Amino acid sequence: MKKRILVTGGTGFIGSHTTVELQEAGYDVVIVDNLSNSSADVVDGIEAITGQRPAFEKVDCTDYAALEAVFKKYAPIEGIIHFAASKAVGESVLQPLKYYYNNTVSTINLLRLMPENGVKAFIFSSSCTVYGQPDPENLPVTEEAPRKKAESPYGNTKKIDEDIITDFCHSGAPVSAILLRYFNPIGAHPSALIGEMPNGVPNNLIPYLTQTAIGIRECLSVFGNDYNTPDGSCIRDYIYVVDLAKAHVAAMERLIGGKNQEAVEVFNIGTGHGVSVLELIHTFEKCTGVKLNYKIAGRRAGDIEKVWGNVDKANNIMGWHAVHTLEESLSSAWNWQKKLRERGIM
Ligand code: UFG
Repeated sequence: MKKRILVTGGTGFIGSHTTVELQEAGYDVVIVDNLSNSSADVVDGIEAITGQRPAFEKVDCTDYAALEAVFKKYAPIEGIIHFAASKAVGESVLQPLKYYYNNTVSTINLLRLMPENGVKAFIFSSSCTVYGQPDPENLPVTEEAPRKKAESPYGNTKKIDEDIITDFCHSGAPVSAILLRYFNPIGAHPSALIGEMPNGVPNNLIPYLTQTAIGIRECLSVFGNDYNTPDGSCIRDYIYVVDLAKAHVAAMERLIGGKNQEAVEVFNIGTGHGVSVLELIHTFEKCTGVKLNYKIAGRRAGDIEKVWGNVDKANNIMGWHAVHTLEESLSSAWNWQKKLRERGIM
């Protein structure tokens, strides 16, 4: 019998790509999502890619009773990958309670339900945001670098959730966890059947960029060119979403196979390379042949100047590697944007 994985937030950007990779690796997936920032149609895209329709339950993870019913209906569940969370940095500053409530209560509910339902493996969707701006000597940043005061309530929920999960796993509860700290996930599945689908005006660079390239937005603002970086724009570690999705499969196999050495392990998931905003724009133009309308604008409040990951631990211990290039990631994002246009969605 196939092993069954519960994926919360499974119709979202990273969740949908991870569901595809889990199914392709031979797992059964049950998606739980409240559809607050995604659509149930994503399940069709996943089915079209894999030939297998994941189970889908429209449930909010803050609803303990509804979540409990899912655990019972789909028993036995071998593991959980927890993506479901509110994630807009700016909104979190204006509505902190929404973020603290959603993001911590969901995690607590899942953890509470694990022992009594015999679920032992938990993978958490964390972020390099927990490192804040690493000190120069800590770049590329390793998992050992100190976590810094969060720049936003959103970022703080990632730290708090990491702590909640760690304390629970160290309490003697029969649960092991892997915290995956993602750098900047970008791109879309090569089929262009699933991808990133922001609501309204995008906050993140790639959807803003591809929407500008296709004419939905007038001009991309580059937030700052006076940073202490070679070209003055901020540096990030952009990781292809399919590579990132595969890291979850590797982490799940590690936990289910009992290969983890500690109750809680932490892995950075990135490429190990930093790329500036301007470099990224020029790479996009080169690999798609599309000229992008952009301008230099002022700095965005709360932005980190430069961060990229040391991913040796994930490479050496989990045997996972990011294999796709920035060009491939950006081309896939562009193909997805064009597909949305073809389908009359955007
Ligand atoms: N940027 C622009 N113009 C835009 C949008 C972004 O120049 O219109 C720049 C930003 O200033 C930054 C880079 O592009 O330098 C990347 O910005 P994103 O908003 O795409 O990503 P962030 O690095 O700010 O944030 C992402 C996730 C967060 C997560 C954080 C961790 O969106 O959820 O990484 O560092 F917390």
